[in-house]
Amino acid sequence: MYTFNLQNILIFSLLLHFVLSSTKSDYAGVLEEIFQTNKYNKKVLPQEDSDEPLEVHISFQLFGINEIDEVLEKMVTTGYLVVSWNDLGLAWDPSNHNQVENVFVPQDDVWKPDVFLQNGFKKLVELGTPSYYISVDYDGWMTWFPFEVFETRCSLDTTYFPFDEQKCNVSIVIWSHTLNEIIFVDDDDAIIFNELFQQNSVWDVISISYHIYEDSTEPKITYTIKLKRKPLYYIFNILLPVEFLGFLNGLVFVIPADTGEKMGFSMTVFLSLAVFLTSISEVLPVNSVNVSVLGVYLLLQVIIGVCVLITSALQLRLNARSTSHPVTGMYLRIVQMKSKCCGRTVKERHVQMR
Ligand SMILES: *[C@@H]1O[C@H](CO)[C@@H](O)[C@H](O)[C@H]1NC(C)=O
Repeated sequence: MYTFNLQNILIFSLLLHFVLSSTKSDYAGVLEEIFQTNKYNKKVLPQEDSDEPLEVHISFQLFGINEIDEVLEKMVTTGYLVVSWNDLGLAWDPSNHNQVENVFVPQDDVWKPDVFLQNGFKKLVELGTPSYYISVDYDGWMTWFPFEVFETRCSLDTTYFPFDEQKCNVSIVIWSHTLNEIIFVDDDDAIIFNELFQQNSVWDVISISYHIYEDSTEPKITYTIKLKRKPLYYIFNILLPVEFLGFLNGLVFVIPADTGEKMGFSMTVFLSLAVFLTSISEVLPVNSVNVSVLGVYLLLQVIIGVCVLITSALQLRLNARSTSHPVTGMYLRIVQMKSKCCGRTVKERHVQMR
């Protein structure tokens, strides 16, 4: 949809040029001068001086974060690059052509840097497609807008899931040239949240920064997108239910042993916790590098559930014992331990029981 818009704008400005200043034949005259008279060769790197690398200006227009896949560790963003450089082989004198100052040529008709997404998720494919046009000004200033849905690798640190922040990189390289031939130059507006920028429902973009590498073999620029997860969904669907189940777990000690419901109750709570655990493991990132705090908490809840089950079983066994049967030493020690912290003595309790 966005490509369509962009092309519309290009076509519109193209038409505007026709109407305002010049005719079709003037426009064709420019193209003829460039490609036929001047014999423009698109294989030639438009480097003026072999000591001076060609400056390629680059900026990133971001439309939105589409998706972050925790399981595959992938970020999908939509946006386009604005890549500009100077190619004097395409310059012309507008006064010879009825003031035609700007033309559009198919991207494959002229030299352009081979720009690749370095940390892409799929096969390394050059950005831009043959259907894109490059804007050419009369002084040789070229502007190219490769639009892309960028799928990039992004290693996620989910320790504090769902209250985590992530940094994801989008690395752009020019693959076939060295830093002696081409360098990236940043513009004042190197990163732009396009006015069509759409917020993601799960992720907030906190900031974007960029870094131009000066020590790599090929020209390279990395955009770092800092994101923060909106935790509300996970609070309502995971944290609170698990919290309540943990509370219910403790409630088993309130139920009198004579009703015979103790085991059934704690078993039910334990099972629903287990069901939760499976549904959560689908939401939690598959990641063995860093263990998430939430995962540890859930494991702890399960362990507590098991302990509660064991305690209830022992309690019931004790309850069903006939009073003539002496209480064994193990139980007495447990009761002694408990009475130390809760104030009652074993003696008092024995009296009460009789
Ligand atoms: C992302 O880019 C920054 C800045 O260039 C760099 O310091 C960092 O190591 C990169 N992260 C990854 C995962 O490549």
